Amino acid sequence: MKDFERDYPDHTAAPYFEHGDEPQCNTSDNPNFYEVMEARVARRGFMMGGLATIATGLFGAAATGSKALASSTAATRIGFKAVPISYDDTVVVPEGYSFQVLGASGEPISGDMPAYRPGANTGAEQEHQIGQCHDGMHFFPIDGSSEDGLLVLNHEYIEPRFLHAEKANYKGKEFNKSAVHYDADGLRDDDEVRMEIAAHGVSVYRTAKQADGSWAIVADPRNRRITAGTPMEIGGPVRGSSHVKTKYSPDGTRTRGTVNNCAHGVTPWNTYLAAEENWAGYFANTTEIDQKPDLPREHARYGVSTNPKGGRYGWHLARSGADDYVRWDATTKGASTTEDYRNEPNAYGWMVEIDPFNPDSTPVKRTHLGRFAHEGVVFAPVVEGAPLVCYSGDDARFEYIYKFVSEDVYRPGQTDGSILDRGTLYAAKFNEDGTGEWLALAPGRNGLTPANGFADLADILVNTRLAADHAGATKMDRPEWGTIDPNSGEVYFALTNNSRRTQAQVDAVNPRAQNNFGQIVRWRYLNTDHTRASFEWDLFVIAGGKATSVAPTGGALGDDSTFACPDGMWCDENSRLWIQTDMGDIGPDYEGPLKEFGMNMMLAADPETGEIKRFLTGPWGQETTGVVSTPDGKTMFVNFQHPGANGSAEDFAAGKFGSGFPDYDGTVPRSATIVITKTDGDVIGS
Ligand code: FEO
Ligand code: CA
Ligand code: CA
Repeated sequence: MKDFERDYPDHTAAPYFEHGDEPQCNTSDNPNFYEVMEARVARRGFMMGGLATIATGLFGAAATGSKALASSTAATRIGFKAVPISYDDTVVVPEGYSFQVLGASGEPISGDMPAYRPGANTGAEQEHQIGQCHDGMHFFPIDGSSEDGLLVLNHEYIEPRFLHAEKANYKGKEFNKSAVHYDADGLRDDDEVRMEIAAHGVSVYRTAKQADGSWAIVADPRNRRITAGTPMEIGGPVRGSSHVKTKYSPDGTRTRGTVNNCAHGVTPWNTYLAAEENWAGYFANTTEIDQKPDLPREHARYGVSTNPKGGRYGWHLARSGADDYVRWDATTKGASTTEDYRNEPNAYGWMVEIDPFNPDSTPVKRTHLGRFAHEGVVFAPVVEGAPLVCYSGDDARFEYIYKFVSEDVYRPGQTDGSILDRGTLYAAKFNEDGTGEWLALAPGRNGLTPANGFADLADILVNTRLAADHAGATKMDRPEWGTIDPNSGEVYFALTNNSRRTQAQVDAVNPRAQNNFGQIVRWRYLNTDHTRASFEWDLFVIAGGKATSVAPTGGALGDDSTFACPDGMWCDENSRLWIQTDMGDIGPDYEGPLKEFGMNMMLAADPETGEIKRFLTGPWGQETTGVVSTPDGKTMFVNFQHPGANGSAEDFAAGKFGSGFPDYDGTVPRSATIVITKTDGDVIGS
């Protein structure tokens, strides 16, 4: 793993978390995805070809495996005129579409509805305001309505300089990009820490279409903030185990908070799951420094920091030393695990279930879905009387894709979140011949025995990555969102990029010495039975520019469709595959391999024809992430995360920003949801 102290002695988070991913922690020798692909191609005789030839071989196999989609929708599946690549600080949607801004960071949703004051709110106020860095999101209709519902969204991380802008002289040079605001004595202001904790987590708020056609936040008893401090239950096999006993919860049944919630999932029983992605960076364990043993494997394999200044934001250095803040320090201090917070990181890395319709419900960490850098989760279509199946990616370089199959069967109206507490977790192995298999991560299976260091199911789940290493899963290029085409049952997963893949790991004729652009993999099952242990896979698209991509139709992507770094994905009910990009904090001054793609964007693909068109582009600095429509498909919600993140204090002082993002008030750029409608009132994308 990366040496945080050596590489970042001044504790600036920027390089470490530059693209929101974790340091590489997988040192196992499982085969990587390119080795698999290369071997597969070699068997089919395409070894001498370029990327296009390779892909033709893969897609040839794909075409015969695809199932026909509903033809009634195909003609208008992506009927809009594509928008061009953009370098402007603005939002562009296709002709015939319009948008508005909704629910920007800091907007009040609950309590006394404290007004947003740019950069000057308190921690207590932030606990009733929308958090920062909007990400995964779902619209839960109220009584089936397409004009009234609960919008639930994740807040992946924070930009301290935008939260504390007024105190921190944000327009001066003192508070530059990604800096954490320490006082002169190295401690942190308590209220700033409280505010940062409150700006994380999840927002639940009611939104409804108004008489004038616009959407607004509506006060409602169900509106609430779930933060990095909210009490939570630990569910599933890890509940009550020795791994999660802490000073706060000596019996190992509870913890506080959720962080770095990237994408999400929606259960068939209408609850929300928030993924804990780069949680490891929030903790520090300096036991290694003090006592010189290796970090415990449940910390080391996930990249928990050994920096004495603490995790990403140094929350444990809050001046008061309050227990709520100290618990982010996982250093061994007491005689037993219930006297300190050495086990607190073990209560992170899970999927967190939230019932948006019950504001009194306690969120539950569903531990049988595994512990890793969860990007999100996607459920296979339910079959009454059959087990439930869901998929989740581990977004870090060379990590894995997972599947959970429940032991109990799905019963509409009876099944609840407890079905996620019993079953089997699997990791994906992609074979060279276009088949794949799911490797069970369960006691006694695939070598997961006490003799091999896996004591029981709780031990396997806490150490999910190590279990998958041991089972022989395939190392992937940062698995991001997954989605399932409801009409074909095919599963799509975005593999966003992997800049650290070496030349030795890729085909010599493959132009990607580093995978800067990413690809989308898909798989399918015999009889669309997601419970099966084997599957068939191919690549849907190899992202990149006109010289470096392979379109689903063969050939390269064109002016209307070039893109890089697929991250967010959602297949709507008409089989429009929405693809969102995260190329990092791209701005107008960016110079690098992603320059040709302009600002982050969203595209739509037709899985049946392979056509891809760019649907929107966003302002400077943002990442386009989070997409969902109302049930009628006529209103779409899309998030812009961290607009302005590419700007330095000097940029802001010089007034370089300010025109582009619609809700930018000239002081603090804010993450926000945009609401998109079609002027003729038709379905978005048609
Ligand atoms: Fe938070 Fe993997 O993007
Ligand atoms: Ca993401
Ligand atoms: Ca991302």
